[in-house]
Amino acid sequence: MKIAVIYATKTGTSRECAERLGNCLQRHEVSLFELGKDNIPSLSDFDTVVAGGAVRFGKADKRLRRFLKERKDELNTARAGYFVCCAFADLAEEYIKDTFGAELLGRAIFAANFGGELKTSKQKNIFAKLAVRAMINDIEENGDSDDESEARVMPGIVPEAIAGAAEKITKTKG
Ligand SMILES: Cc1cc2nc3c(=O)[nH]c(=O)nc-3n(C[C@H](O)[C@H](O)[C@H](O)COP(=O)(O)O)c2cc1C
Repeated sequence: MKIAVIYATKTGTSRECAERLGNCLQRHEVSLFELGKDNIPSLSDFDTVVAGGAVRFGKADKRLRRFLKERKDELNTARAGYFVCCAFADLAEEYIKDTFGAELLGRAIFAANFGGELKTSKQKNIFAKLAVRAMINDIEENGDSDDESEARVMPGIVPEAIAGAAEKITKTKG
């Protein structure tokens, strides 16, 4: 099967998730495309298309949102699956709905949170470093809270979510 994995990333988490997904699909012909860097070919060249990227300040990466808007007609006829990378797993469902919308999600073979990372060392500017530091502090301070949304744990990439997506890609065809 020819599979395109199209992602937007700022600090590499979404790229790593795309690569891990590719590794789970080694028996297939997988091509990775980075939005803002690579030209994205016609989606009809592929049997399955995967698109995703990270959430920052409650919104998916601008390049991903633009891609979804510009290539909506193609995505609407493609066999497609979607992912987000985010730090707050409790908000992932909301981010997924907001990013991809009911129409694309209604036809999707999967829509998943592949997880996120909070690493100050990976941030490219002081503003992002401070934001990440604040999020880490918040998690550390509220980790033992009774309030579910506040009882957050330090995020990371979720290999099971990536493996689950790979399984849906390979098993639901036909
Ligand atoms: C400035 C900034 C804002 C962020 N805002 C959110 C957010 O609103 N919600 C969330 O769940 N994660 C948030 N994150 C976490 C990112 O989704 C996470 O760092 C992700 O791994 C980044 O992926 P990328 O390297 O592919 O860009 C934020 C991260 C940064 C640096």
